[in-house]
Amino acid sequence: MMKRLDKAERVALWQAARQAREYSYCPYSGFAVGAALLCEEGTVVTGCNIENAAFGPTICAERTAVVKAVSEGRRSFRAIAIVGGPADGELTECYPCGVCRQVLSEFVLPDRFEVICGSAEEDLKSLTIEELLPHSFALRPEKE
Ligand code: THU
Repeated sequence: MMKRLDKAERVALWQAARQAREYSYCPYSGFAVGAALLCEEGTVVTGCNIENAAFGPTICAERTAVVKAVSEGRRSFRAIAIVGGPADGELTECYPCGVCRQVLSEFVLPDRFEVICGSAEEDLKSLTIEELLPHSFALRPEKE
């Protein structure tokens, strides 16, 4: 079983996600999300949601972080923290959408990657991708 992040590591990653949320571009939904992706070697890659007038091209904070990391040669990930809520309001408990769960599952082992969610640093939830996306689709089921 994987070694989970300790509390201080979780809080630090969550704070990085909260900071990244400041850059959210969400004029249509008014819902701002930030994500912080912890790479295996310790680098943190952040992302925010970026909306578009045509709606379809909108990208979530989690996928922004993943595409930034992969496009810079990083593909081994330990955890992601997600912070979201109305741009001008309180944070809410925000879990990754189905598309982001699928994209994350492409690059991680389902029981070895932590998703950290919560609206306050004293109350963070940690779930694995296996818990968030059971029986997921893969073309490489033997992926190691
Ligand atoms: N959003 C994210 O960035 N991540 C999620 O996990 C859920 C939704 C964004 C997409 C859109 O810009 C806004 O939140 C409202 O759906």
